[in-house]
Amino acid sequence: MGIKILGTGSALPEKVVTNFDLMKTMDTSDEWIRERTGIGARHVVTGSFDTETTLGTNAARRAIEAAGLLACDIDLILVATCTADDRLPCVACKIQAALGAGQAAAFDINAACAGFLIGLSVAEGYLSSGAFANVLVVGTETVSKIIDWSDRGSAILFGDGAGACVVTRSDSAFTFALGADGEGGDALRCSHNSTVTMDGQAVYRFATRTVPKVINEVLAKAGMKASEVDKYVLHQANMRIIGSIAKGLKEPIEKFPTNIENVGNMSSASIPVLLDELVRDGKIVAGEKIVLAGFGAGLTYGACVMEY
Ligand code: ACO
Repeated sequence: MGIKILGTGSALPEKVVTNFDLMKTMDTSDEWIRERTGIGARHVVTGSFDTETTLGTNAARRAIEAAGLLACDIDLILVATCTADDRLPCVACKIQAALGAGQAAAFDINAACAGFLIGLSVAEGYLSSGAFANVLVVGTETVSKIIDWSDRGSAILFGDGAGACVVTRSDSAFTFALGADGEGGDALRCSHNSTVTMDGQAVYRFATRTVPKVINEVLAKAGMKASEVDKYVLHQANMRIIGSIAKGLKEPIEKFPTNIENVGNMSSASIPVLLDELVRDGKIVAGEKIVLAGFGAGLTYGACVMEY
């Protein structure tokens, strides 16, 4: 028994903050940000209009519609987020209520930028066991609310958004490899009532060393070679990190689609937003072999390989 993605969706806040906008409030430049990260702009929530719940709900509605289902067909809602406005109730329950999916079980997963990937693996476990038939996995973040906008070393990186997909049982296998390095957790922290602190170089080293390893591990488990992969949909942390991972795998950078230039790093929302854009643009088509890989605070990481 395997699983497949039935439909994808995404939602971004309307407001766009460009590097030139940031230059008005901090000592930075478009050139520095682009050269070090590949980021040109990011979307951010304003006032109380958009929250991680409204963004996640909009992305979920689009994914359910693309799947050809109704909210009442969803058995389980998994929400990956590390920027929930409230400690209780969890965002998954708020999205369940907003969708009118009262029959679905619902809970959150906090694994930062690897959260969506880990959510997919949880969905795969439940679907394979026969416990549920249709699972909605959402990655939704309002990182702009927890960053220190006066810290030019971290504020330039992040954006807000949400992505979702509906997964169901099928014959095609998803293979996963997951891990964590809790001892490295100090590299990226955010305490209650505080803002994000980051050792950028430690995060960079972690990502560039760990991600090629976990991708090779998942390919070995699936009995595949890197050259057989059509596309790598990676967490959009930084263009230089993606370039280094491509080199580590000895794979051409053309196989690594990105959207970081326009949306920045949206933590757990990065992978599902990019996936949705690629599917809707016809850049991922049925039958392609796709690797997804996430990595972030924790430190958490994981990869999966699937046939779309
Ligand atoms: N604009 C201009 N100058 C800056 C900026 C900025 N926005 N930020 C830092 N600088 C300066 C520093 O003050 C420093 O100046 P100094 O030499 O006079 O002291 C200089 O630029 C170099 O700073 P570094 O921190 O060494 O810059 P680095 O080359 O490491 O780039 C960066 C910083 C982009 C954060 C890099 O370390 C990185 O990409 N790390 C990965 C972090 C990441 O992706 N985090 C995402 C969250 S976790 C995740 O998603 C996996």
